[in-house]
Formats: sequence, C-alpha cells, structure tokens
Amino acid sequence: GTPADYQAEDATITSGVVESNHTGYTGGGFVNYDNAVGSAVEFSVTAAAAGPANVVLRFANGTTANRPMDITVNGTKVASGVAFGGTGNWDTWQTVTIPATLTAGTNKIKATATTANGGPNVDKITV
Ligand code: GCU
Repeated sequence: GTPADYQAEDATITSGVVESNHTGYTGGGFVNYDNAVGSAVEFSVTAAAAGPANVVLRFANGTTANRPMDITVNGTKVASGVAFGGTGNWDTWQTVTIPATLTAGTNKIKATATTANGGPNVDKITV
C-alpha cells in the first residue's frame, strides 16, 4: 500500500523523552532515547493486508559510536543489533530500512536499544 508516516513522539515510549531542540525533524519533535539498554519506542502500524513491508526508520546520531537496536514486530524479533551509526551531528537525519512481514490490521513495531548509550534520536518510521 501507500507508505504512511508514524511519528515517534506519538508512539509508546519506554525510557525516553520527546524533544525538539535539534533541527530537521518531521512532525512535532523526536524521541531522545535514555542512554540505557532497553530504552525503546513502540509504534502501532496499520496494514491493510498481510505481507512484506519495508520499515524505514529516520534517525540522528550526533556521536561517532554506533547505537544498535533490535527490531521486533508483534513481539517477534525480525532484526538484531541493526546499526544506527553517526550522522555527523544531531541535526542531520538518515534512514535505515528494515524488511518485515506484517499482519492485516494493527502491528506493534518496536525499536529497542541494546547498548548503554541507548538508541539514536528517532524522528519517525515510514511503512
Ligand atoms: C545530546 C543530544 C540529545 C541526544 C543525547 C544522547 O544530549 O542533545 O539529543 O539524545 O545527546 O547522547 O543520546
């Protein structure tokens, strides 16, 4: 179907805060993950039909250290330790694409930090 945006600031946040103190985000802001293992954002994504989809995650990482995250769909891990490398500064956003299989209806797509640095700043996903 037609890709739709799901803003991180509208999602369910575990150990993180909504902020808008860097430029270049879409919507009302972005999520600053706490610098901790297990900080996470869970999006509720609606799919018209079951099948494969690309999850495009938009992020910024103003450090030079990778901030890997695990990606789950409806509780099943579909990607481990996906790399979210440095983007140069916190105002510069890039995307990473994660292939996933969705069910018809509501899908819970969660991105969970796996290192003590936490996740990158996350703007949105497009599915
Ligand atoms: C800085 C930056 C935040 C970022 C944080 C981090 O404080 O301003 O936007 O989330 O570093 O390292 O996670």
